[in-house]
Amino acid sequence: MKILVIHGPNLNLLGKREKTFYGGKLLTEIDSLLQEQAKTSGIELLVFQSNHEGSIIDFLQNASPDASGIIINPGALTHYGLSLRDALSDTNLPIIEVHLSNIYAREEWRHKSVIAPIALGQISGLGWRGYLLALQALSEIMRDKE
Ligand code: DQA
Repeated sequence: MKILVIHGPNLNLLGKREKTFYGGKLLTEIDSLLQEQAKTSGIELLVFQSNHEGSIIDFLQNASPDASGIIINPGALTHYGLSLRDALSDTNLPIIEVHLSNIYAREEWRHKSVIAPIALGQISGLGWRGYLLALQALSEIMRDKE
């Protein structure tokens, strides 16, 4: 089983950027934890980060035909990325949306996610642990379907 993990704009700066919201772990550290967990569950993870909506869409179009699910933190694209939403929807894969911070406890413009309506679920505010919980949930849901 292959799962795609996608990190949107500015998430390459994790560990340096607004630590009170996003925590001190580097993106590479989060990715290593995810890879470790995936390995023990026999899952292949394909991880991608980009600051460009079009590059994420290209990645989705190329990689989704061989994948079983998607974990995505779309960064600020969460709030207005309609092309990303269409591309995610076109994959017909189960999607879990992850946010490190609690987007509902921040500025009002962050309260709306254009991705949430096409996602299976959303995890917001649990920091880096949210990614691991998303991976656990998605792999269990996929296994139930098999
Ligand atoms: C974020 C929340 C977004 O509002 C913000 O633009 C991000 C990170 C989060 O993980 O909490 O870049 O997706």
